[in-house]
Amino acid sequence: MCNQLFYVNLFFILYFSLFHNVFAAQTKNFNLQLKAVNLGNWLVTEGWMKPSLFDGITNNDLLDGTQVHFMSTKLQMYLCAEHGGGTIVVANRTKAAGWETFRLWRVNETFFNLRVSNKQFVGLEDEGGKNKLVAGLDSPGKKETFEIVRNNDDRNRVRIRAANGLFLQAISESVVNAEEDYEESSWEDNDPSVFKMSVLSDTVLKGEYQITNGYGPQKAPKIMRDHWKTYITEDDFRFMSENGLNAVRIPVGWWITKDPTPPNPFVGGSLKTLDNAFTWAQKYGMKVIVDLHAAPASQNGRVHSASRDGYTEWGDPFIPDTVATIDFLAQRYADSPSLIAIELMNEPQGVNLESLKRYYQEGYDAVRKHTSSAYVIMSNPLDRDSKVLLPFVRAFDKVVIDVHYYNLFSDKFSNMNVKQNIDYIKDHRASDLSSLTTSNGPPIFVGEWSGEWKVQSASKIDYQKFMQVQMEVYSRDTFGWAYWAYKCDSNYWSLKWMLDNNYVKL
Ligand SMILES: *[C@@H]1O[C@H](CO)[C@@H](O)[C@H](O)[C@H]1NC(C)=O
Ligand SMILES: *[C@@H]1O[C@H](CO)[C@@H](O)[C@H](O)[C@H]1NC(C)=O
Repeated sequence: MCNQLFYVNLFFILYFSLFHNVFAAQTKNFNLQLKAVNLGNWLVTEGWMKPSLFDGITNNDLLDGTQVHFMSTKLQMYLCAEHGGGTIVVANRTKAAGWETFRLWRVNETFFNLRVSNKQFVGLEDEGGKNKLVAGLDSPGKKETFEIVRNNDDRNRVRIRAANGLFLQAISESVVNAEEDYEESSWEDNDPSVFKMSVLSDTVLKGEYQITNGYGPQKAPKIMRDHWKTYITEDDFRFMSENGLNAVRIPVGWWITKDPTPPNPFVGGSLKTLDNAFTWAQKYGMKVIVDLHAAPASQNGRVHSASRDGYTEWGDPFIPDTVATIDFLAQRYADSPSLIAIELMNEPQGVNLESLKRYYQEGYDAVRKHTSSAYVIMSNPLDRDSKVLLPFVRAFDKVVIDVHYYNLFSDKFSNMNVKQNIDYIKDHRASDLSSLTTSNGPPIFVGEWSGEWKVQSASKIDYQKFMQVQMEVYSRDTFGWAYWAYKCDSNYWSLKWMLDNNYVKL
């Protein structure tokens, strides 16, 4: 009895001292409205923000995920995976669409796997010694590996060498095989082993997967480490804090938790870089949001989720690994005074909503194992109404909903003038935000926005007004905002450039 009372008392003493600290932290953080910037293209590469990063890659027009068509020059017909895959590959199509499209998986600079629209891979079927071309395996092996040999004078005139050492030949509209030796043949049109390859340029992905696999295991480590070391430095944190920013949102990829030896093709060293960011943030009094931008198997098929080939494949089987990533990050940074929030997943799109909620529940629990003071940010799915998570998040403590507002990426903005863009912020964005902001609901965070728009030849004053109205609206009763991005080759996407050139004052 006595003993029990002792433990009960001890429990209450511990409980209250813990609770008191938590409460103090909450109060302090609650008054802080974030003026943040996204450190995009740092630990998760986005080629459009700095295209020159890809310049040193051999065959850099044939990166992972690049979509190509092959036309037999002899038959003037496109290669086609019948039914989108699962059976033979033929050469009898006059037009190219989905079944005639092959997504490259790069083995090295000249060897590739070809993924068809049902997500299976092209390979040689040697049953009966016919070496016919089929598309039927779920994961590529030796027989699904092809060398693309390019003509020196016309890089899009190619031969495709199969694993048996012979070139693919379009024998007839219904027979494509690798039977005869065409090694000595010419590049003439009537040669059945010659194909015209067209790259669908608007499908090209340039992200973390493409840059690391593009440079390959010999070159990628140095390229990536140099990039991490130079792209954002301690000076940038000083600049940000001196210019009125109080937080950074740092996109990271799932492989960061496997440092220093992440699976191929990813490169080790990004974790140390994130550690540095925390050190610098603390030194300059800034907060950090760690944002899982790239989840395993890609939660949106976009370049910024490190997708290999544009398919969204995140789902239930990947929940445990994704939760483990959050657990790792929360554990590592829970004690840093700079940690303000962990964002469980950036911009899910095309994922099952129930799976997402299950993950958000488990990811929240993983963060709470290590910290009760950090906020947990849940990104609203891009393809859903902005209120879709509101009822769900009521069950949690210190959860924030992240919405992204760009006057881009939709036809409705194409012809808007300056005034219409500004009115859109004042009307639509403001009312969306106020409908999300309920008295006992979660705080709302505008985790991405930009001064870029579709207006042609806008003046500096136009940009200033557009920046100003967004900051004003996105600060109304919110957790705050984060500009996309800090640095970018395209000036208006770079808050640093905007600050340096007086397009904005915070
Ligand atoms: C590329 O991969 C193929 C197939 O695995 C291999 O035979 C070839 O030697 C590799 N080439 C280079 C340059 O690594
Ligand atoms: C292409 O060839 C396959 C196999 O012979 C045949 O089933 C299909 O109908 C053909 N399609 C066209 C458009 O000719």
